[in-house]
Amino acid sequence: MPELALIYTTREGQTAKVAERIAERFRAAGSNQVQAFTVAEAPRSIANFDAIAIGGSVHFGHYESDLVTFVKRHGNELAARPSAFFSVSGSAGSDVEPYASESAGYASEFVDATGWNPDVVGIFAGAIKYTRYGFIKKRVMRHIAGREGEPTDISRDHELTDWDDVDAFADDILRHLAPATTGAT
Ligand SMILES: Cc1cc2nc3c(=O)[nH]c(=O)nc-3n(C[C@H](O)[C@H](O)[C@H](O)COP(=O)(O)O)c2cc1C
Repeated sequence: MPELALIYTTREGQTAKVAERIAERFRAAGSNQVQAFTVAEAPRSIANFDAIAIGGSVHFGHYESDLVTFVKRHGNELAARPSAFFSVSGSAGSDVEPYASESAGYASEFVDATGWNPDVVGIFAGAIKYTRYGFIKKRVMRHIAGREGEPTDISRDHELTDWDDVDAFADDILRHLAPATTGAT
């Protein structure tokens, strides 16, 4: 049965939320054949899926090493079917240069490092979850956020994700993946 797998890593849950939003958009468009997994939960072989979307978040300039390993290991399977990459980062929510441009840089470094050429790439602002950070991390993140023109109120969390952008990305994947996920020729 034609199916899309969403496979991601997340540390504070925002990439999981983005993956779930993409899955909801697929379901709203009439495709019930969507499954979401963390990299740790993903099946050993992805050959049974007709299309794959991979997502990761950036911490200290890098995606999780597990994600890089997964994409390298499954390079042949990814190349053989429609695929998409979505990146979640703080810098994607910044309007201040050079930080604003860093988000695209992370994604292109990932593509270069893995040798994978996804058909669709989405770059999304994540969240600043001050209430989940420890004493030091909270203050480091406030400093970074201030520098990048992002919220510095550490008494609460701030979601920077533009959900319309995520929906548009899901629609873009749907267009690219339509032949596979609908079984059409
Ligand atoms: C300790 C830490 C380091 C981070 N480093 C970066 C970074 O180098 N560049 C960036 O753009 N965003 C950075 N961020 C922002 C995260 O990418 C953002 O919070 C994202 O929503 C995390 O997604 P996740 O909850 O799925 O892991 C960092 C966040 C934390 C908490």
